[in-house]
Amino acid sequence: MSQKSSDNGASLSQNGTSAYTFTKEQLAEIEVLKTKYPEVQAVTLPVLWMAQDTFGHVDPEVQRLVAYTLDLPESHVHGVAEFYTQYFKTPKGKHVLDVCTCLSCHLCGGMDTLGYLENKLGIKAGETTPDGEFTLQEAECLGACGYAPMMQITNDVYVNHLTPEKVDQVLDQLASGDTPDFESIPMPLVSTTSNNEAAGGSDE
Ligand code: FES
Repeated sequence: MSQKSSDNGASLSQNGTSAYTFTKEQLAEIEVLKTKYPEVQAVTLPVLWMAQDTFGHVDPEVQRLVAYTLDLPESHVHGVAEFYTQYFKTPKGKHVLDVCTCLSCHLCGGMDTLGYLENKLGIKAGETTPDGEFTLQEAECLGACGYAPMMQITNDVYVNHLTPEKVDQVLDQLASGDTPDFESIPMPLVSTTSNNEAAGGSDE
């Protein structure tokens, strides 16, 4: 396999890394992305995302591929990948369960939910089931505090107001190949009528 030195001095194989490579189609897509931003650094985010979609994670070797492809220092790509928890820096299970244990969720049973999942899956937070189906993680506030306790599934759907029964249902859905419905979070509506009544007034 031929070797090439990138600008940051690393000696790389023809495709930039020994284990991972982008397809020709992906490289063409990356070229289009580069035309949409004034600086190539900005393309790091979508290309990391593309890499995670393709390889399931952005471990250091995938980060190296991204750096090589964009001709950026590996330290830059590493800094971006490390900053966002949504990028998986190690291989994960097929489904990543991020259980929020921050204040509101904690007060509403977030730790109980986490413990229930640990027992149910037979793993601790931070671990992956031996069959590679589920990774369980403890997450910081996911911005759905009014719907606590809640969890997010693989950077996607939110499941709110968790109970053991609801957790069972979600696990069954995921195991059978279904995705739980996205539970949208409506903005609170302020009723002037209710406010007036609460203040002891009358609408008549
Ligand atoms: S504390 Fe759990 S979503 Fe905010």
